[in-house]
Amino acid sequence: MKKVYVGMSADIIHPGHLNIIARAAEYGNVCVGVLTDQAIASYKRLPYLSYEQRSTIVRALKGVKEVIPQETLDYRPNLRALKPDFVVHGDDWKEGVQKDTRQQVIDTLAGWGGQLIEVPYTQGISSSRLNRAIRELGTTPDLRRAALRRLIHAKPIVRISEAHNGLSGLIIEHTRISSPAGIREFDGMWASSLTDSTVRGKPDIEALDISSRLVNVNDLLEVTTKPIIFDGDTGGKTEHFIYTVRTLERLGVSAVIIEDKVGLKMNSLFGNEVKQQQDSISNFTAKIQAGKRAQITQDFMVIARIESLILGAGIQDALSRAQAYMESGCDGIMIHSKQPDPGEILQFCDRYNSFPNRVPLVVVPSTFDSIYEDELAQAGVSVVIYANQLLRSAYPAMLKTARSILKHGRALEAGPDMMSVKEIINLIPEKE
Ligand code: SPV
Ligand code: MG
Repeated sequence: MKKVYVGMSADIIHPGHLNIIARAAEYGNVCVGVLTDQAIASYKRLPYLSYEQRSTIVRALKGVKEVIPQETLDYRPNLRALKPDFVVHGDDWKEGVQKDTRQQVIDTLAGWGGQLIEVPYTQGISSSRLNRAIRELGTTPDLRRAALRRLIHAKPIVRISEAHNGLSGLIIEHTRISSPAGIREFDGMWASSLTDSTVRGKPDIEALDISSRLVNVNDLLEVTTKPIIFDGDTGGKTEHFIYTVRTLERLGVSAVIIEDKVGLKMNSLFGNEVKQQQDSISNFTAKIQAGKRAQITQDFMVIARIESLILGAGIQDALSRAQAYMESGCDGIMIHSKQPDPGEILQFCDRYNSFPNRVPLVVVPSTFDSIYEDELAQAGVSVVIYANQLLRSAYPAMLKTARSILKHGRALEAGPDMMSVKEIINLIPEKE
């Protein structure tokens, strides 16, 4: 029998896939390379189902002899390993992100006289419509909670943005741009203490209790499906923190980040301009351990945030704390800085990377914002959080309009800066 290779994501199996497999089976034994989360996340959104679920489904399809992982969008590694006589694919990849992949397949197969067979695209089925339908299906707390770990595993860097209300949540959920490397979008949301407090007209000093913070989380949960990381400030008293963990986990939040400060917490970006005190390693590790003991699932993450660089305690202190916090069982480390350039963060990353037990690293480039995501990923950072940019851009726009109305005694002059009435009334469509 000849060997036939088919690569697919198989997130939503439709008759088009079955048609391809049936055609492939006419040429010989079909081996399906199911794209891993990593392979898919390299050019579009993480699939709904996990790799294990998708490969189980494909294995059960008629005509499939074997299922193997395809770890990259690039077919070549699997092709070189298998040396199939045929590759079968839909003819819809002649244009778009997969165009180069197609040419590589043709060239590689030529190396041993293999051939690409293209099956006419099954009309009347639109994967993008099916994908939209899946998004409308929404999510569950379990799926959403687990999504952050999946993303960290699948992507070189996970891109998170602050969302301070339902509307900004919708921006993070839906905004996407096309780039040469595929679709680019945000992976999840940050429930920031700074922006949650600011939208309520309060300072960022833990003045909002957990219940008020959860109002925003709940608004985000209602209208989005992407994972949420909760800014837990200091975590409060250890005895209270365990309840916060339970609550967040039950709601489907993926992670809480707590910072190693005690007493009246002020925003980190003040640094030493205000009096702030770092927690002792022993207190803070006890808090992490209590949080880890409180959670029920394997998915929820407790991430420890180190304030040594913010408070001027230096890189060595930050590294010792990272080591201690990791030993206490935290699932990630956030290292923060308020320097205008990323130098000290990169220095920390460099030394942190040599720890054998390192856990995913999170950074928040609010002040050192010249650094590109690619550079952070290169430095070993797993999650980048844009912690306040949406609110920082919304407020000046609102202020400008307020001033214009006061100045002119009418709203007309502010018109060019605003969306139209028609746009705002149609912005949030009614559900059918
Ligand atoms: C927040 O967004 O509230 C944060 C990050 O904790 S920072 O404002 O830089 O402290
Ligand atoms: Mg905060």
